Amino acid sequence: MSGTVPDAPSDVARHYGHADLADRMIARLAEHGITPETATLDDLAALDQMHLRGREATIEVGEKLGLKPGLSVLDLGSGIGGPARVLAAHFEVQVTALDLTPEFGATCAVLNEIAGLADRITVVTGDATATGLPDAAFDRVVTLHATMNIPDKAGVYREAYRCLKPGGLFAFYDVTAGPNGSPHFPVPWAGVPEISHLIPAEAMANMAEAAGFRRVEVTDLTEEARSRIAEQRAAAERQKAQNAKPPLQAGDILMGAQAADKQRNLRRNLEEGRVAISMAVFVKG
Ligand SMILES: C[S@@+](CC[C@H](N)C(=O)[O-])C[C@H]1O[C@@H](n2cnc3c(N)ncnc32)[C@H](O)[C@@H]1O
Repeated sequence: MSGTVPDAPSDVARHYGHADLADRMIARLAEHGITPETATLDDLAALDQMHLRGREATIEVGEKLGLKPGLSVLDLGSGIGGPARVLAAHFEVQVTALDLTPEFGATCAVLNEIAGLADRITVVTGDATATGLPDAAFDRVVTLHATMNIPDKAGVYREAYRCLKPGGLFAFYDVTAGPNGSPHFPVPWAGVPEISHLIPAEAMANMAEAAGFRRVEVTDLTEEARSRIAEQRAAAERQKAQNAKPPLQAGDILMGAQAADKQRNLRRNLEEGRVAISMAVFVKG
């Protein structure tokens, strides 16, 4: 399925898109003795949650949105569908997963089949600021770690508002500008500053209100992100010291050649207050 997609791949789609992504994910599972037939949702969630605090944060967003079986959810900037699969399986909702990067849509469809969730997730390639989806069609709209690549955040919030049913809820879980200056690059969402568009969480919430939403809450989760990264690093160091097999992950596949630099800079940017992490919920009144 296709939404409103630019003719040529944008710099953002080029940043994220890699050939053979699904095959490389399947090969990574195989390195851990997992086949498409035996893969569980937890196995996939170790590879496919392209945001800080992974599956745990996805469930948190779902809980804040009061997800219940049968509700329809639109995920704007859905990546390879990690959040869509967790929400569809955990809360038994129907998800429309929309992303700009065609390779991500294709990979999402393959992983949905592997997870046995293809009938609960509709994959759309399109732009979150002009989705082409119908008015008032969804009970919930969510976006996780996607608007840092989108200069027109007001456009995303207008689309979220338009696509929601009256009384529906919208949540973002995003990287935002920190108080202490510009980030160090490269970072996971941008090799260069030109495709990174961070603003403070409060400015984002004001834009969502300007689109018509009523604010329910805006929560700063920067400290939670910092401590989770520290825990993961400590666990990795312990495993290295014990010569244990590295944990199942796909950061190197998804982030490419500069993966280690991108992760180091993300850590440093969080520590130095150059980026922050926020989760916010709004209602279409
Ligand atoms: C860091 S990934 C996060 C993916 C997913 N939300 C997750 O948490 O796993 C950011 C995603 O935003 C998508 N994206 C960036 N700009 C977009 C736009 N204008 N419309 C739709 N998707 C966009 C990218 O293609 C990428 O998949």
